[in-house]
Amino acid sequence: MCGIFGYCGQQRAAPIIIEGLKRLEYRGYDSFGIAVADRNITVRKKEGRISQGMPNIPRLKGTTGIGHTRWATHGIPSDGNAHPHLDCHGAIAVVHNGIIQNYASLKRELEERGHTFSSDTDTEVIPHLLEEEFKGDLAAAVAAILPRLEGSYAILAIAEGHREIIAARCRSPLVLGIGDRASLAASDVNPLLEHTERVIFLEDGDIAAMSAEKIRIWHEGTPVERPVSRIDWSVEEVKKGGFPHYMLKEIYEQPEVFSSTIRALKEEEPPEIVNGIRGVTIVACGTSYHAALLFRYLVEAHCGFPARVELASEFKYTSPPKGDLVIGVSQSGETADTLAAIQKASMSGHPTLAVTNVLGSTITRIADDTLFMRAGPEISVAATKSFIAELAVFSHLVDLMSGGVLGKDLPRVHLAISEALLVDLSPAVELCRDAGSMFFVGRGPYFPLALEGALKMKEITYIHAEGYAAGEIKHGPFALLSAETPVVALCPPDDAYPVMFSNIREMKARGTPMIVVGVSGNRDLRDVADVFISLPEGSSLFHILGSTTVMQLLAYRTAVALGRDIDQPRNLAKSVTVE
Ligand code: M6R
Repeated sequence: MCGIFGYCGQQRAAPIIIEGLKRLEYRGYDSFGIAVADRNITVRKKEGRISQGMPNIPRLKGTTGIGHTRWATHGIPSDGNAHPHLDCHGAIAVVHNGIIQNYASLKRELEERGHTFSSDTDTEVIPHLLEEEFKGDLAAAVAAILPRLEGSYAILAIAEGHREIIAARCRSPLVLGIGDRASLAASDVNPLLEHTERVIFLEDGDIAAMSAEKIRIWHEGTPVERPVSRIDWSVEEVKKGGFPHYMLKEIYEQPEVFSSTIRALKEEEPPEIVNGIRGVTIVACGTSYHAALLFRYLVEAHCGFPARVELASEFKYTSPPKGDLVIGVSQSGETADTLAAIQKASMSGHPTLAVTNVLGSTITRIADDTLFMRAGPEISVAATKSFIAELAVFSHLVDLMSGGVLGKDLPRVHLAISEALLVDLSPAVELCRDAGSMFFVGRGPYFPLALEGALKMKEITYIHAEGYAAGEIKHGPFALLSAETPVVALCPPDDAYPVMFSNIREMKARGTPMIVVGVSGNRDLRDVADVFISLPEGSSLFHILGSTTVMQLLAYRTAVALGRDIDQPRNLAKSVTVE
């Protein structure tokens, strides 16, 4: 939630920081700012998006600087609340991602001692605390104040006249890059790829002093070495590659994402932790939660043991059965609710497994073992290819735990996505674009898909959309059905087909425009539907992947028709690092 970027090297820092922040904008985009240290510190900050620009920033002198793109938590989006924040003398500048929970009492104390605050943010206590401790060694000052901060933080700090950035992290992501006579820091690896493939993932509690020549790291006052990882994502992967939006590019990448995730997992040793398990509890949020719900159907159908799925944010109020393997699913690996859930599971003695897309992310450090999806960088706030990659990981796991029940299907099943990319959705978009409200319905594994379809629709079009189990819609939501409330019904040729077909007719009888996704050649569905979207016949997994893609594209095309800000929908951020 917020992106931070720092550069310390031989070149002008400002233009490099601006480009870095543009790549982090998906993490937050209500305001941005930059501070460059030369003899003095110069700050430029502003409400709005970095991509809308700010004249003169690139001309700032100074080869050491820090920047921030914000998703407001404390204080409205405004020029004043934008980071960086300064101490009373403008001699120390700080950018911060996370939340300082005890900021109110710290602020009161500091004000009593004469400090003047100029924002409503929690962050501003940090430069004022540093001001009291700074005696020429900024790293020492940072080390002195960190014990006073409660909450989560990734911090970058600079001081006037110093060619060094001090970085610190605790429960918020921070990656350092080793460049050519330069050191860099960022909230994730994407903006570092322009400069280096050699990165260091800081541990919680680490403090780093970064200069053009070297990076020194301390943990609890002791110098430490952290491993240098090589990132094999390319710069091209984090660019739009000719597509109008990242979301569309990422949807088109899905066939390759599914098959390369399966291929890579097959080449790895299976995680020992899944051996002999008798039950799983899966925790996740948003799209990852929907993938987990779908996993439950696959596990229970094929593996012969129970699977529970919990919203990560609710997990603390529940108790998983003793002995359950607890699986945390998170594309980013940084979602605070999911991290808290995995931490709780570990503390109560459960074996834990992370499923994530991001090497070095926090979830990989707190879970006992990790399975990586191979989605590559997902930039659009709306999760698409990561959902497909999660389904690939889950299919692989089910295959492992069931003795190979899906095996034959897995190498070809991604072709369903390629087929779905070709479907003409214009008539369906015409029905959706003027809707005030929509429903998505399905049964069995298509119920979580309906939830996911509705999430995509509401997230990027701002049309109110609800996902429902098709059988449940007559227990209340029927009252909302009308000619202005289109319903998307997922109706594959499975065991649920006859009753699903009846549900579609019941909804149709209320005058509801029906968009039905089924298999080609089904005359009954074609006749009852206002718009029939036909997919080729195939296995259950084949149809799940095809239906997913259709719903993603339906949301995307509707959002295009409505002129929405697709990759950065209002009020959202890609990675939600607060509980
Ligand atoms: O990184 P995670 O998978 O943990 O993210 C979880 C959710 O925040 C995320 O899936 C969110 O719901 C998406 N923006 C939906 O498209």
